[in-house]
Amino acid sequence: MARGGRFARVQETVLITGGGGFIGCHLARRLLRGGYHVRVLDSLIEQVHGARGRPELLDAEAEFLRGDVRDPEAVRRALRGVDRVVHLAAEVGVGQSMYAVDRYVSVNDVGTAVLFQQLIDAPVKRVVVASSMSIYGEGLYQDEDGALHEDVRRTPRRGPDAPWDPLDKAGRPLRPVPTPESKRPALASVYAISKHTQECLTLTLAPAYGMEGVALRLWNAYGPGQALSNPYTGVLAIFASRLHNGQPPVIFEDGQQRRDFVHVEDVARAFHLALERPEAAGQVYNVASGHDRTVAEVARELAAAMGRPEMAPEITNKTRSGDIRHNIADIGKIRRELGFSVSRDFQADLAELAEWVARQQAEDRVQQARSELETRGLVA
Ligand code: UD1
Repeated sequence: MARGGRFARVQETVLITGGGGFIGCHLARRLLRGGYHVRVLDSLIEQVHGARGRPELLDAEAEFLRGDVRDPEAVRRALRGVDRVVHLAAEVGVGQSMYAVDRYVSVNDVGTAVLFQQLIDAPVKRVVVASSMSIYGEGLYQDEDGALHEDVRRTPRRGPDAPWDPLDKAGRPLRPVPTPESKRPALASVYAISKHTQECLTLTLAPAYGMEGVALRLWNAYGPGQALSNPYTGVLAIFASRLHNGQPPVIFEDGQQRRDFVHVEDVARAFHLALERPEAAGQVYNVASGHDRTVAEVARELAAAMGRPEMAPEITNKTRSGDIRHNIADIGKIRRELGFSVSRDFQADLAELAEWVARQQAEDRVQQARSELETRGLVA
């Protein structure tokens, strides 16, 4: 008997690969409330989870299997009796992917290949994969005449006074505008390449074996439960960890780069919809809040929320290799087709994050990560 409803329906099992992570734990809780049996397969990599065992954030009702998504036997066991799969297992650092190339390609792409190799023998109804906005590279831009540019690429800056923002052929500044799913991919980092491959494997192999594939292209997820001691995690968690340790956030470029920060509960809702809604089969969707912000704004607002308004960020004026300048989201498609909506208050969410961070231990490994990039010439 399914929980959460008065009517009996056969209880389905969802496998969440990488379900011990930040997004997976929030999604597991949501799916359990929605009446699913949830199984998690996670290898608990040290960089994210430290030396701890089963993640505290993971609901006690979720079944937990420790194993690597590249291990065929572990995946075969994890797929027993499963109806739907959410594939989150991945390495997630854009900067790190530029030197840990084999690790990123192996976990993200070989991992997805092994998952599908096993799914061929044990097909499920639907597989939803976590893709990323990073596959777009630079987002969509508009010039001063209103023309759209979808093939904007970053070129190295010519000197310290050169503008950070991309320019059109006439040397005029381009303005970022919301990027729809129809924009052609432009892969600017190993991470982006690996996410694009995950997406292609899912959307090609699922229908070939009678399954439905869906890809969600996530923007910058944030919220309680993020891996604070992982120096390659998302920028908000890194800033939170720095501030928690009494250190100012370190900002690459001039801090005016724009992103869309989407709360993890909204991300979990998007996965829930993508797992169930018939319209989603075979589709890709952007998942974001629909509001864009600069990295510098976010650093200041988070410092204020954490009670450290005096902690001004350090602006490095250096670029991290593989980073894009701006990417902001058009979420019209997921709103229209799946009924996705976002109604959150960013300031209240920062306050919630600050309150959670205050109760955590967070090791600040940002300096070490920065040196790793600098010694390889990946920050310049
Ligand atoms: C992030 C996620 C990626 C996800 C994507 C979806 C990470 C590591 N990356 O990519 O998994 O698919 O969102 O949108 O979670 N920055 C600083 N200081 C720092 C760290 C970063 O200024 O200490 C800057 C970066 O240079 C970049 C921006 O903040 O301009 C965002 O960086 P980051 O959160 O690492 O990654 P995204 O490329 O947005």
